[in-house]
Amino acid sequence: MALVEAEGLTRRYARRIGLRRVETTVVDDVSFTLERGETLGLLGESGSGKSTLARMVLGLTEPDKGSVRVDGIAITSVTIQGLRRRMQPVFQDPAAALDPRMRVFDLVTEPLVIHRRSLPGDASRQTLRRTAAELLRSVGMDESALARYPHEFSGGQKQRINIARALALQPEILVLDEPVSALDVSVAAQVVNLLRQLQKERKLTYLFISHSVPLVRYLATRIAVLERGRLVEMGEAESLCHAPQSAYTQRLIADTPHL
Ligand SMILES: Nc1ncnc2c1ncn2[C@@H]1O[C@H](COP(=O)(O)OP(=O)(O)OP(=O)(O)O)[C@@H](O)[C@H]1O
Ligand SMILES: [Mg+2]
Repeated sequence: MALVEAEGLTRRYARRIGLRRVETTVVDDVSFTLERGETLGLLGESGSGKSTLARMVLGLTEPDKGSVRVDGIAITSVTIQGLRRRMQPVFQDPAAALDPRMRVFDLVTEPLVIHRRSLPGDASRQTLRRTAAELLRSVGMDESALARYPHEFSGGQKQRINIARALALQPEILVLDEPVSALDVSVAAQVVNLLRQLQKERKLTYLFISHSVPLVRYLATRIAVLERGRLVEMGEAESLCHAPQSAYTQRLIADTPHL
């Protein structure tokens, strides 16, 4: 059984065009699986529905049609709490995801405090401090950061803090929605390599969303391509990049500057 099975995911939004109210299908009947330990890259232009799809996979947006199963368990209002521990998001804007009034220690340990009733072991200050220090080290930061506030860090460091926070509950799956798109190229490369290293160490499964062909090609085992809400192509990363089948994918690849 695949770790994640998305079936027929569909989401519509109403938009106002002048006086008219128009329903648009922003994600249209999308099915895919995520196999244990793989990275599925999700490619598509701005507005193609990538984030909407990611939010449905995370159980943050309810689909109009279709379902998501994690390890065979369908996401419902009853199962979501338990499944959230196993599947965590990292979003594009590293600052927006961090409450500026909270210290890094509280940001990183908040998921543990929220879920403490269902977690093994104690949630004493001491245990939390040790766990927080380990989490920071695992994302390449020093534990001295724990007493500081988000604004004291660069964009790349903020995203590392977000990743540490996402790892706090030892999830199996990370849904990464353009996690390095807001970062400078060299910083982005470091964070991408951190993600690779973490995946290896922790046997993580990634849904990695990006509009960048080279980035997705570098990270993904398989690639799925979304065009205006529809999945137009899905396949093994290298063969898809060498011989794209759909005209849309061909154009995405042709438009990519050689880096
Ligand atoms: N909450 C919402 N209400 C109304 N429309 C929405 C909502 N969320 C998304 N949309 C619309 O759905 C479409 C897809 O948006 P989405 O954010 O999923 O695209 P995306 O592929 O992630 O784009 P980007 O690359 O810019 O992040 C857009 O036209 C957007 O305006
Ligand atoms: Mg998006």
